[in-house]
Amino acid sequence: MKKDFLSITDIDGYELESIVADAMYLKRLKSTGTPHEFLRGKSLGMIFEKASTRTRVSFEVGMTDFGGHALFLNPADLQLGRGEAIKDTARTLARYTDAVMIRAYSHATVEEFARYSTVPVVNGLSDRLHPCQVLSDIMTLNERFGDLQDLKLAWVGDGNNVCNTWLLSAAMTGMEIVVASPPRYRPRDAVVDQARAAGGRITIVADPAEAVRDADVLYTDIWVSMGDEKERAERMQALRDYTVDSRLLARAPPDALVMHCLPAHRGEEITDEVIDGPQSIVWDQAENRLHAQKALLLRLIAGGMPATE
Ligand code: CP
Ligand code: NVA
Repeated sequence: MKKDFLSITDIDGYELESIVADAMYLKRLKSTGTPHEFLRGKSLGMIFEKASTRTRVSFEVGMTDFGGHALFLNPADLQLGRGEAIKDTARTLARYTDAVMIRAYSHATVEEFARYSTVPVVNGLSDRLHPCQVLSDIMTLNERFGDLQDLKLAWVGDGNNVCNTWLLSAAMTGMEIVVASPPRYRPRDAVVDQARAAGGRITIVADPAEAVRDADVLYTDIWVSMGDEKERAERMQALRDYTVDSRLLARAPPDALVMHCLPAHRGEEITDEVIDGPQSIVWDQAENRLHAQKALLLRLIAGGMPATE
């Protein structure tokens, strides 16, 4: 049976650990120039309803590293853009490709696509979730800390798709998550309930200083996600006290790390001195998209890392 990756909860803690271990191994192979064409002849379809730099390039380069091929599919150029049904597109692409990654405005589109696809489907970001990002972020924290159990992550700002995904990962990693958001932009109740029911330790507060006080990691993201542009003015107003700047960073422990999934709006949710400063690990996060997604694709398409001699 094909396996999808629409949510971080589509894998369990054991699979998460094994994907991260494989990703670290793939990172070593890449850095030593060791060929690893583990998906030779395989194709990944990539549908992007929204813009992308990291997701598009990392998936495409990843398939090239594996000796396979990735197809960038803009809905405006597909018959999808002229009204062909999602389910018909999904069934058709499954006859050509070995997996499909889809970035869509609505999470329902991603779910519908996956329901009708007979090959694995990867959520490359929806309005609700961004599981590939958090998979890579978990790898990045693993490189820094080893075990993540009991680390505390403070999410500062909009309780958006990346924040939702972090909450859903809490039970798997054992990390504690504190979200500081204005009431209107808190993460979705349904997600918080699901994350808590799974055993995740989650606190929601209003004050960013309270959230970062004893945090190991500070995480922020843009205030106006793709698809939220019509609320731009309200969001800028409501979130203006949630900037991760050097003043807020000074309220956190001195060795706290700063994360951002990128793209950043410098001067809004994060300042230049913080994102470019010594505590920032944002470029490692961006790099690890490549390695973590390669490990994921290997698992979904080929069942995991090939056995070595
Ligand atoms: N973080 C992330 O998904 O970046 P892109 O939108 O550039 O793909
Ligand atoms: N929350 C952002 C993440 C971009 C990678 C968005 O959805 O636009």
